[in-house]
Amino acid sequence: MEAKKRGSFTGSIGFVLAAAGSAVGLGNIWRFPYLAAKYGGGIFLLVYLILAVTLGFTLMTTEIAIGRKTGKSAIEAYRALDKRFSFLGYLAALVPVIIFPYYCVIGGWVMKYLTVFITGGAQASAQTGFFEDFIAMPVEPLGWLALYVGVTALVVLFGVEKGVEKVSRIMMPVLVILSIVIAVYSITLPGALEGVRYYLIPDFSRFSVTTVLAAMGQMFYSMSLAMGIMITYGSYMKKDTDLEKSVGKIEIFDTGIAFIAGLMVVPAVFALSGGDPKALNQGAGLMFVTLPKVFYNMGQGSFLGTIVGAAFFLLVLFAALTSSISLMETIVSFTGDRLHWSRKKACLIVALVSFGIGIPSSLGYGPLRFLQPLGFSILDFFDFLSNSVLMPVVALITCIFIAYFVGVKTVADEVRLSSKFRREKLFTVVIKYLAPICIILILLSSVLDGLGMIQI
Ligand code: PFF
Repeated sequence: MEAKKRGSFTGSIGFVLAAAGSAVGLGNIWRFPYLAAKYGGGIFLLVYLILAVTLGFTLMTTEIAIGRKTGKSAIEAYRALDKRFSFLGYLAALVPVIIFPYYCVIGGWVMKYLTVFITGGAQASAQTGFFEDFIAMPVEPLGWLALYVGVTALVVLFGVEKGVEKVSRIMMPVLVILSIVIAVYSITLPGALEGVRYYLIPDFSRFSVTTVLAAMGQMFYSMSLAMGIMITYGSYMKKDTDLEKSVGKIEIFDTGIAFIAGLMVVPAVFALSGGDPKALNQGAGLMFVTLPKVFYNMGQGSFLGTIVGAAFFLLVLFAALTSSISLMETIVSFTGDRLHWSRKKACLIVALVSFGIGIPSSLGYGPLRFLQPLGFSILDFFDFLSNSVLMPVVALITCIFIAYFVGVKTVADEVRLSSKFRREKLFTVVIKYLAPICIILILLSSVLDGLGMIQI
């Protein structure tokens, strides 16, 4: 993203690729599979898909349209539409501040695994307990965290995003192809078919409000919604680029990669654990525990597993970096503008503070394991705070703001500048009624559940 001059993307492909670079990241490859495994497989997938084509479509269209209309980033854009709602911009800007530090913790884990595979440690990484032992260490994960924050900060500081973008245009398709190859391999492991069934066939008895909340938070996170980022991207979009089609393409791209990642991980969990439900509930570590075993298995200890593993973690690292760059860029341009810091100063301070906030998340699996806010590990707690609390709240207020204060017509007119608004009816019903009612119900029931007043 360019911070100073407001350039614009060249045509629809440029826009879609840039937005997809932010959207496709650890959310798709690391987060989606472990949530799908935990929340009932097929039922989670179904709820996710329904949310993506209704709420996801509506919010992404809204954010991009607001950005393109006002030509401004989140805080200024909301202010320009209605002064009373500038607080919404601040609330949205808070989300990346919470996500970025723990995103870097996971990014550091990816760097560690890449190094392990490059240095021929495929076998060691496939051993039971390797991941748990690593994240429980007091110092080493912090080193990887520092390195990951440092690399992201350097790119944001020197603005080599253009170069990163070029590289990721090659890396992304390669990531898709490699993921498909790994998914096909996972599916053909003995015992994996049960996992394919679990992942693809919805079991309605496992439906609950928690499933919806988890799927909704994941959708916002994965598509970089409800945090003002798509507003900024929209502000760079040309007036004649087909807005509605672009939204569709980003959604298909993002959801497609998450879907393949699930196919890569979930069946493998079944094959490697014999369908033990404890394995499905592993949470944040699932990818790091399961995939090394798949890679090791692939080559039967030969070199193949090492090569596939190293290539995979390198590609994931790039996908993660393009996302974390967009996260940090948002924080840097926001703090820099507000506090009148130079870019260098803003980068340095944001990097240091984010590293500082990331430390407890990293240590939460080791020395600080005794700290369990609301029963979560510290990293999961930040993740919960942004995805299950703040993002739904931002999304809710955005819908109400657009539907009842600004008017649906403002967004619809902006979309119509570049094409017919094909799904205007769906958009109107979702933003006016469906989204506000559903989000309120879901938030309410999860709060009541959290307070122990109801059981969901
Ligand atoms: N959408 C990214 C992912 O799925 O990994 C995460 C993310 C990136 C969230 C950038 C927010 C953001 F601004």
